[in-house]
Amino acid sequence: MKMSVGPPLCFLIMLLLLSLSLFSVSCRGQEQENGSSGAPMERGEQEALYSAIQGFVGKWWNGSDLYPDPCGWTPIQGVECDLYNGSWYVSALNIGPVYENSLRCAPDAELTHHLFELKHLTSLSVYSCFSSTRRNTVRVSISSWGRLSNTLESLEFRSNPGLVGTIPTSIGSLKQLQSLVILENGLTGPLPMELANLISLKRLVLSSNGFVGQIPPAFGGLNSLLILDCSRNNLSGPLPLTFGGLTSLLKLDLSSNGNLDGFLPRELGNLRNLTLLDIGGNKFSGGLIRDIQGMISLKEMVMSNNPTLRGDLTSIEWANLQDLEALELSYTGLTGRIPESMTQLKRLRFLGLSDNSLLGTPPPELASLPYISSLYLNGNNLTGQLDFPGTFYGKMGRRFSAWNNPNLCWRPPLTPWSAVNVPVGVRPCSEGGNASSSRSGSSLLVTEMSEGLDVLHQDSQIEVSLGCRSRGVDGSGWGSRSKEMMALSAWVLLLVVFV
Ligand SMILES: *[C@@H]1O[C@H](CO)[C@@H](O)[C@H](O)[C@H]1NC(C)=O
Ligand SMILES: *[C@@H]1O[C@H](CO)[C@@H](O)[C@H](O)[C@H]1NC(C)=O
Ligand SMILES: *[C@@H]1O[C@H](CO)[C@@H](O)[C@H](O)[C@H]1NC(C)=O
Ligand SMILES: *[C@@H]1O[C@H](CO)[C@@H](O)[C@H](O)[C@H]1NC(C)=O
Ligand SMILES: *[C@@H]1O[C@H](CO)[C@@H](O)[C@H](O)[C@H]1NC(C)=O
Ligand SMILES: *[C@@H]1O[C@H](CO)[C@@H](O)[C@H](O)[C@H]1NC(C)=O
Ligand SMILES: *[C@@H]1O[C@H](CO)[C@@H](O)[C@H](O)[C@H]1NC(C)=O
Repeated sequence: MKMSVGPPLCFLIMLLLLSLSLFSVSCRGQEQENGSSGAPMERGEQEALYSAIQGFVGKWWNGSDLYPDPCGWTPIQGVECDLYNGSWYVSALNIGPVYENSLRCAPDAELTHHLFELKHLTSLSVYSCFSSTRRNTVRVSISSWGRLSNTLESLEFRSNPGLVGTIPTSIGSLKQLQSLVILENGLTGPLPMELANLISLKRLVLSSNGFVGQIPPAFGGLNSLLILDCSRNNLSGPLPLTFGGLTSLLKLDLSSNGNLDGFLPRELGNLRNLTLLDIGGNKFSGGLIRDIQGMISLKEMVMSNNPTLRGDLTSIEWANLQDLEALELSYTGLTGRIPESMTQLKRLRFLGLSDNSLLGTPPPELASLPYISSLYLNGNNLTGQLDFPGTFYGKMGRRFSAWNNPNLCWRPPLTPWSAVNVPVGVRPCSEGGNASSSRSGSSLLVTEMSEGLDVLHQDSQIEVSLGCRSRGVDGSGWGSRSKEMMALSAWVLLLVVFV
């Protein structure tokens, strides 16, 4: 016999489902009347949250009206809560246009002292909030940071050009802090030594502000650090010798400060886990020290635009850097030959050696590195025959350049060759191998060449998990309700049977 569900039974099932959903709605309604979902929230905590948010988004924002139960049934986008002692507290506050309905800042947004009354705040992020186009600028120099010293684990100010002044020294009291990101703001002044008290820090990003002065040697004591990024400021002076103690470090970026100088410390060789070293755009000197080969995990090494660096490429046993994928040494005053040992960098994708004073003939094996996709040799004093296969020039296109080496020539293949597969700006050798005297044009899109590295830089951005717990806002009040629910469904079933 075939089983079939007749229309009346179907109707009854629908009725059952409908009544169940009605029940759950009315249940939520009851909860509304009884304050919040399950646990209460301290009056003071709730008021502090409303006032803190009002400081950012403007006086029009009436929290108690719009969000009477911010940790329960009226959640606020960007606010996360957690239970302590059976009460709700705000654990994370994220301000800024991340989602469609995120809290956005008013033109006269401000940091108010109410923030510091949130007793269990572990994470604060203020993104794209204080804009410089207004006359109104905001200072973080509030002395109250110490009040969050036992709770705050992550603090982030990002893309706030209107955030000016100096880093307050009281930030140094946030002893639980694991991540401090102060990126693309209008902050100036020296880096406070007190930051070195933040011994739990795993990530310290101070990039793209207007910080001046030296990098405090005390930063070398932050030995849990995985990421240290002080790039794009106006820092000067030497790279502290103490940085040799940052042995956990994965990423060190001090690029584009313009005035960092002095010799590279030999202690850099201790950073055996470092995958990115970027000190480009400064005034370092003293050449490529041999100790660099101790950084055996390096994937990217960028030192370009340090015209005073000098030295040569033979000081390093390149075979030790087996993970190296990008090596950018353009415009560093390098002299001497390109050593054969560089052709042992089997993972190399990007090699930038342009605008130096390199001599000799480039090793032909460079062209047969398995992953090589960008090779810049232009603007040197390379000589002799460029002995790469014709297919190489075609494959590389604009990502190969050797122009502006007056005494370098290339040998056309004996077989007919396509006009595309020629190294731009390099003369064909005359019979017998001498460079012919005809000069060819060397106008090239230089910008496109630097693009290659930018892309690479983005590719290998290191994501580091900081082990922060994710917290749900879910109340616990639903468990007891399932019993009531079952009782009700039984009742409905009974009704159904009667019908
Ligand atoms: C809310 O519920 C709790 C526990 O379920 C109860 O103790 C309290 O009296 C209720 N409050 C109101 C206003 O109904
Ligand atoms: C918010 O609204 C409530 C009632 O609608 C009112 O009593 C309260 O004063 C308002 N608060 C602010 C800060 O405007
Ligand atoms: C929990 O309550 C006790 C007693 O009221 C208090 O001493 C303690 O500090 C509270 N803990 C938290 C995390 O608020
Ligand atoms: C950086 O410092 C130099 C001189 O030390 C100064 O001329 C320049 O204006 C500074 N730049 C910024 C953005 O502060
Ligand atoms: C370096 O990395 C390895 C592997 O990830 C890890 O086991 C080691 O602890 C790290 N060294 C330091 C000093 O953190
Ligand atoms: C290039 O090398 C030649 C000799 O090979 C030398 O005369 C010339 O000065 C060098 N030019 C530069 C810029 O080093
Ligand atoms: C190559 O240059 C050398 C030195 O300038 C010259 O003696 C020789 O004749 C040249 N060879 C050819 C084939 O032009």
